[in-house]
Amino acid sequence: MLKTWLTEQVGIKYPVIHGGMGPYSTNNLCAAVADAGGLGIISLIGMGVQHSEATPVDPVLVFGEGTTEEYLEKSIAFVQNKTAVSGGIFGVNCPVSAEFMEAAKLLIDGVISIRDRDEDLKKRLKVIITSAGDPVPWAEHIRKTDLIWFHVIPSIYHAKRASKAGVDAIIASGHEGGAHISWQPVHSMVLIPGVVDSSSLPVIAAGGICDGRTIAAAFALGAVGVQMGTRFIATQECDFWDVWKQGIIKSSDRDTLVGRGMFGPMRFIKNKASLKLVEKTALLLPDFLKGEPVELNEEILEIEKAGFARLIDNDESGSLILGGEASGRIDDMPTCKDLIERIVADAEKVMNSMPEHCS
Ligand SMILES: Cc1cc2nc3c(=O)[nH]c(=O)nc-3n(C[C@H](O)[C@H](O)[C@H](O)COP(=O)(O)O)c2cc1C
Repeated sequence: MLKTWLTEQVGIKYPVIHGGMGPYSTNNLCAAVADAGGLGIISLIGMGVQHSEATPVDPVLVFGEGTTEEYLEKSIAFVQNKTAVSGGIFGVNCPVSAEFMEAAKLLIDGVISIRDRDEDLKKRLKVIITSAGDPVPWAEHIRKTDLIWFHVIPSIYHAKRASKAGVDAIIASGHEGGAHISWQPVHSMVLIPGVVDSSSLPVIAAGGICDGRTIAAAFALGAVGVQMGTRFIATQECDFWDVWKQGIIKSSDRDTLVGRGMFGPMRFIKNKASLKLVEKTALLLPDFLKGEPVELNEEILEIEKAGFARLIDNDESGSLILGGEASGRIDDMPTCKDLIERIVADAEKVMNSMPEHCS
């Protein structure tokens, strides 16, 4: 059994987190991962997009008619009820990027107040993961609660901001990951040991992790657990559409592209829609290629909105399919329970066989 700071601190069986994956709902996936003994995460971003200047999806398509507060209440109740038998542990993910400040405030306040009213939630909704922005302004807010706080970072500079904010652990997410990634590329092999060396906080590894070998590698680099996004898309319980799951399964190792997304660079599976978005990024925002933060562009935002809306119709070439480089290493669609048990057992085997392998 792999016991680490993460399993002990959060009270989960396996040191595996399902990373927040907005803007669509991940409520079923969250419940399945929590039931299986990992840390399930409710993705909050889609619930708040109407309060943000960068709105890539229509929240009604995602959650039906309602307000941010209603979506939040319903989603938390859904996961709480679905995991009632297992008593699974879960958390929430909220981006805190500059474009999402008003929405983030509504969502984080909402989570705190819903949780405060319910004794079962206080024991089971234990974690908040912030991402895509500066955690320092949120410290006072989050530190008033007993939530365990992780912040996602893409570089050593950002890890220092997370330490300053007083988070409990850092999630270091490498550039091979799916969806939002950093302006300047730092991949997991360089990022994770760099952050481990430069910080006294526990580090959770993300970006490119999808099986026992990559989990074992994350531990070798000094991590106390892993967060996976792309791998969890291709699971039976993931809420996403079939075109998305098949897009991950069918991809090979050279099938992702990076273009301008809602909060910054985004990694997509290569198809007609993502090629169009990347071409427009190169044409309209050439500084993007120099790793410089560039303003969100209306024309690109429209392409993004259209591409996300096409997912619902399972349109293989017109959908924008978010996914990481790990897609090239994924070729099945297990249940979350089978997946987590398999990859953790494989990681243990790899770690136990190291001395033999290297002598
Ligand atoms: C479809 C998709 C959507 C994502 N959305 C979010 C999000 O809303 N918030 C966030 O912090 N990270 C988001 N991520 C990043 C994941 O939480 C995770 O850190 C990342 O996927 C890890 O890299 P991997 O894809 O190689 O596993 C998303 C990733 C994917 C693939």
